[in-house]
Amino acid sequence: QQRRTLIAGNWKMNGGLAANASLLESLQAAPELAASGSTCEVLVCVPVIYLSQCESLLSSSAIAIGAQDVSAHLSGAYTGEISSAMLADFACKYVIVGHSERRAYHHESNELVAQKALQALRSGIFPIVCVGETLEQREAGKTNEVVVTQLRAVMDVLDDGALARIVVAYEPVWAIGTGKTATPEMAQEVHAVLRSVLAERSDFAANRVRILYGGSMKPDNAQELLAMPDIDGGLIGGASLKSADFLSIIKAA
Ligand code: G3H
Repeated sequence: QQRRTLIAGNWKMNGGLAANASLLESLQAAPELAASGSTCEVLVCVPVIYLSQCESLLSSSAIAIGAQDVSAHLSGAYTGEISSAMLADFACKYVIVGHSERRAYHHESNELVAQKALQALRSGIFPIVCVGETLEQREAGKTNEVVVTQLRAVMDVLDDGALARIVVAYEPVWAIGTGKTATPEMAQEVHAVLRSVLAERSDFAANRVRILYGGSMKPDNAQELLAMPDIDGGLIGGASLKSADFLSIIKAA
């Protein structure tokens, strides 16, 4: 089965009204974007406060919009939280859940991440479930165990239909923002393990779920990473903030 490549930018806590407008303007004007339509889907995951701005700037554009986090709760007394229904009030198609920065700095557990994925799906938003090992875990030979445990926690709360609607992002923590990238072979090995775990539940899901690679994906390494059979796109941090870099990655797809 053919999975449509997904090139997703994660702006993290960067940008502002003026910077967002100029970045989106140069992306939309680029011939690479127009040419990408048949081969890949392009997404920007923006700080939630700019969803409305991005929605109006991108209203007739091929670029989809996503958020970077969502509450695990439906509604109620959760000061500062944003529900999936609120995200769905905007043109928010995807939401990142369980990014390693949230797991590390906000102590998000596998179970909480699973609840967030479930809530997103209940509002019709596709969760991008992030998994990945730290350097210490890789050196201890625990990479597969860590990422499989993180994925299984999400699989446990989803039925087969819901499972087929998630996106997974493999992001080795040691490769994020460091300039160190997993080699295409290293990444492929983990992606294949993740797909085999999906296949234990459903071949349909395993064939359909896109598994993105994230961690210092740049114009000069995107092509070889995206050429691997189980790498179905990228979750791009730093390079998604520069239109030229993001466009070259889109072109590489
Ligand atoms: O969500 C994106 C990842 O954390 C990758 O970030 O491309 O800056 O390494 P990076």
